[in-house]
Amino acid sequence: MRIGILTGGGDCPGLNAVLRGAVRASEVTYDSTVIGFRNAWAGVMQDDYETLDVDRCRGILPLGGTILGTSRDQPFAHEDGLKRVRKAYDRHGLDAIIAIGGEGSMHVVSRLHENGFPVIGVPKTIDNDISLTEMTFGFQTAVQICTDAIDRLHTTAESHHRVLVVEVMGRHVGHIAIWSGLAGGAAITLTPEEPFDIDELCERIVGRHRKGRFATIIVVAEGALPKPGGFEIPEPDIDIYGHKILGGIGSILAREIQGRTGIESRMTALGHIQRGGSPVAFDRVLGTRFGVAAVEAALESDWGQMVALRSGRIERVAVADAVGSLKMVDPDLLRLNAMFQPRIPGDEHPGLPVED
Ligand code: F6P
Repeated sequence: MRIGILTGGGDCPGLNAVLRGAVRASEVTYDSTVIGFRNAWAGVMQDDYETLDVDRCRGILPLGGTILGTSRDQPFAHEDGLKRVRKAYDRHGLDAIIAIGGEGSMHVVSRLHENGFPVIGVPKTIDNDISLTEMTFGFQTAVQICTDAIDRLHTTAESHHRVLVVEVMGRHVGHIAIWSGLAGGAAITLTPEEPFDIDELCERIVGRHRKGRFATIIVVAEGALPKPGGFEIPEPDIDIYGHKILGGIGSILAREIQGRTGIESRMTALGHIQRGGSPVAFDRVLGTRFGVAAVEAALESDWGQMVALRSGRIERVAVADAVGSLKMVDPDLLRLNAMFQPRIPGDEHPGLPVED
């Protein structure tokens, strides 16, 4: 079999593990060939590619980023996009394309499948927001990077008795925020799932600092928003693909908190550091499993499927079912998060003392 492969959307630690897994399975186990398209669908559109073999993939397992490069280009953004995809299949004698990407890329896989193309999807995102898979690779690495940063911020926050706001990624969901907030012992974690009340937030902080010996670490997902009437957030800029460029809530929030409470506040935005560098072991293993499973799905001509982690096993789900909605943070984790924030009178946690 001849398989085309590409990595699309924002890069993510573990992408190279998927490529290596797919190439090893193809070449060594299943006597197949892999063509890698550079810079996602842009490579398909422009016929920019390289042959991927075991030699080319040597040493890439611990490497962050993607050796193929990535972009947010996609066939449906071009008038003749489908024709160009067809040409790529014909020119290279491809039996399948495996597309590794986030929500946007999975939509493309779904639409290509509807149009009769033999495609398989591999879900990728540090945000961990793709439905029907318990986890995406890259997420654990991002959480570890944020947790390490929060660990460091504790000592400086405590020395100065400051509020430190840590802004992490998460456009629509707060998986990174919740996991790193819990792991790093943040006092408060704010997610896009639950718009926050700025007055109540400040009351919690003031209550905590009243004793004079506390500092407060607040983790905020870039997509978190105050409840209506809270404070204004400027409209974000738009990138060349029409996506909102998020980031900025952290500095606005730190300013608001300092203005409203009088407690010195600073902010740290972790930004793309969360996506850079070597994947943690979990992401290397998940990426490898996904890469091999995607090749096996292609060999069985199980088109239109996305490989997924479900109850710890690698399964296949219809990609069309995975793209309908995003995977939000589990309500149990949100409840856990609420239990660990500073108490104020009126909180519904019987048995726990109110901080006064
Ligand atoms: O999709 C993952 C993500 O990391 C989002 O959390 C973030 O908003 C976005 O990518 C930023 O991507 P870029 O700056 O590369 O366009």
